[in-house]
Amino acid sequence: MRLNISNAGQFLAAGTVESYEAQVAEAQKALENGTCLGNDFLGWLHLPSSITPEFIAEINATAKVLQENCEAVVVAGIGGSYLGARMVIDALSNTFGWLKPSNMPRILFAGNNIGEDYLSELIDYLKGVKFGVINISKSGTTTETAITFRLLKKLCEDTRGKEEAKKVIVAVTDAKKGAARTTADKEGYKSFIIPDNVGGRFSVLTPVGLLPIAVAGYDIAALVKGAQDMEKATAIDVPFAENPSAQYAACRNALYKAGKKIEILVNYQPKLHNLNEWWKQLYGESEGKDGKGIFPAAVDFTTDLHSMGQWIQDGERTIFETVVSVEKPNTELKVPSDAENLDGLNFLAGKRIDEVNKMAELGTKLAHVDGGVPNMLVTVEKLDEYNIGQLIYFFEKACGISGIILGVNPFNQPGVEAYKKNMFALLNKPGYEKESAAIQERLK
Ligand code: PA5
Repeated sequence: MRLNISNAGQFLAAGTVESYEAQVAEAQKALENGTCLGNDFLGWLHLPSSITPEFIAEINATAKVLQENCEAVVVAGIGGSYLGARMVIDALSNTFGWLKPSNMPRILFAGNNIGEDYLSELIDYLKGVKFGVINISKSGTTTETAITFRLLKKLCEDTRGKEEAKKVIVAVTDAKKGAARTTADKEGYKSFIIPDNVGGRFSVLTPVGLLPIAVAGYDIAALVKGAQDMEKATAIDVPFAENPSAQYAACRNALYKAGKKIEILVNYQPKLHNLNEWWKQLYGESEGKDGKGIFPAAVDFTTDLHSMGQWIQDGERTIFETVVSVEKPNTELKVPSDAENLDGLNFLAGKRIDEVNKMAELGTKLAHVDGGVPNMLVTVEKLDEYNIGQLIYFFEKACGISGIILGVNPFNQPGVEAYKKNMFALLNKPGYEKESAAIQERLK
């Protein structure tokens, strides 16, 4: 993985990014020494290097049980409890899931919304399928996930019987607290622990991400290896100019200070759509607080060049973009020649589709830079487990540094509670009587 910030640096006064060196060093030190805000959530920092082959083997063994006994596995989780797994599985899978040449179970994601149609349609589909469930919730009490799990548990037990259901339901949750833990212990489900000191959005390299990724048939050891190598490449003793996470954190803070309030993450591969979603959560929840923070937005190009392209090229000049570019596709396809050339495309005949894509990418970068959009470029060699592992840790480490430079606690998310409090009050959840009365008064 490589980072190039030259087309962003050109929008800043000479030496601006370099001027962040001392702040970045302080942030790195605060992370290492555990002296930053949110220091009880730093378990992600040296997580990759702490993962043992034995732990990977344990996850793979559980994955095998699900693979051997299920045609589909539903991953129930929301936010940090599903976005990482979804991102990795999508990036590695056949874009059109049904063509996937694999005997692995189909991975479905649920528990991330409260859509009645969504859940009804899921249940209808699952009625005809031998399915298992990975119930992922750190708190063990998240409403979206809990409602979904209640439905799935019942259906699984009704269709497979309680004993067999036990074999194919796995919990990933807190060691001691929460309803998901209570249920897992009482029912005797296999369970994995989400470490106390790893927040949801930093948890993809815990069983939260590793188990679903392994069930989908991917090499979690290679994923972890990529993250381990990036842990080394972004370590505190790596010089500022050579540390990609430090450079990215410094550059985006410099751009923010220069009035660039919105960052768009860009990909040119549909498989990376959920990288956008994972990244938006990582940066949005980490930095958007205390009235501060870059707004993380994301687009899929070239698709969105035909929708958001106008705004990006010509709208308010408060944005910068970070492009994740994949050097080599995993397949090869060329534009065919056509004797009649009715569509006038013979000038492309014999060229790889990826070459056209790359020219679109380059052309877009030049146009956007001309239009006043600073551009950072993250290049990954190809979409495989190792490279995605690198990308994960690169963004996580940069996020920690960036949030500290911004002056916020990057590891909490107090704002997420506001909607929950109102929802519970409106639904008359026990314990919310006072809030219920207040909200009813307000709605009169
Ligand atoms: O990053 C976070 O902390 C959140 O997005 C959580 O992951 C999300 O709210 C789900 O929480 P839980 O795992 O407790 O169900």
